[in-house]
Amino acid sequence: MFKHLREEIDGIMARDPAARSRIEVALCYPGLHALVIHRVAHWCWEQGWRLTGRFLSHIGRVATGIEIHPGATIGRRFFIDHGMGVVIGETAVIGDDVMLYHGVTLGGTSLNPGKRHPTLEDGVIVGAGAKVLGNITMGAGSRVGSNAVVVTDVAPGATVVGIPARVVVPRDKVDPSKFLPYGTPCGDIPDPVARALNGLLDQVQGLRRRVEELEAERGGLDGPAPRRPEPALAPALADAAGRDRVSDAAPTPC
Ligand SMILES: CC(C)(COP(=O)(O)OP(=O)(O)OC[C@H]1O[C@@H](n2cnc3c(N)ncnc32)[C@H](O)[C@@H]1OP(=O)(O)O)[C@@H](O)C(=O)NCCC(=O)NCCS
Repeated sequence: MFKHLREEIDGIMARDPAARSRIEVALCYPGLHALVIHRVAHWCWEQGWRLTGRFLSHIGRVATGIEIHPGATIGRRFFIDHGMGVVIGETAVIGDDVMLYHGVTLGGTSLNPGKRHPTLEDGVIVGAGAKVLGNITMGAGSRVGSNAVVVTDVAPGATVVGIPARVVVPRDKVDPSKFLPYGTPCGDIPDPVARALNGLLDQVQGLRRRVEELEAERGGLDGPAPRRPEPALAPALADAAGRDRVSDAAPTPC
């Protein structure tokens, strides 16, 4: 039952830039603790020891804030980052290399005792606070934006956001072979402040060109125009406008 523990820990280290050592992951990651408890609870459930399975699941919930029904089927290298508030229902099926953030619900929408929770195929990433509801399938490598509510099937590789979730086209092409921490192309997230500054610099450049044109016209008629002292901010902006643009890649989120 524990033969994959090292693999689970390595999977976490590969997907969480904040994880520094295996021992740290083993001691401090509630997602790992919940998963280990679930593996035991699920085994009990499969043996028909339903109450034991449920009780172990309850202990896992008390200890980690992550509620995984012992009937849920979970693949390898499953990682719940941060964890608190995650709920995974009885008939949920989760493939390999799936990642959930805190506050995610894989829930049911019907009282029918059959399959009523979602199926997440390999490599799915579900953002913080998102709800995936009903007997729907999220295709391999698909991604759910934080706080989205997904109520219909999601095609493999698609990104969905909002309530109800709809497909969006990521600004940057997503390479499905690479894991993207936080579900985003790392280090290339547009920073709104940098965007605004770049817009300002473009305007300054345009105005500067126009002033030079006007000065040249005026110089042609009456000689050179008297030069006005520039305001304190102008040299810095003009300097920046003449050189590189402000990088609009925000630092990697954590
Ligand atoms: C959904 C997600 C995976 C998309 O990332 P991405 O590929 O970089 O996509 P983009 O940032 O290019 O966004 C594409 C569009 O979706 C919108 N969008 C992205 N995330 C969204 C969200 N959670 N809710 C609503 N809209 C969202 C963007 O505004 C953009 O819309 P636009 O084209 O109209 O401007 C990512 O935004 C996300 O939510 N990841 C989960 C992160 C998380 O939960 N982190 C927890 C850390 S503790």
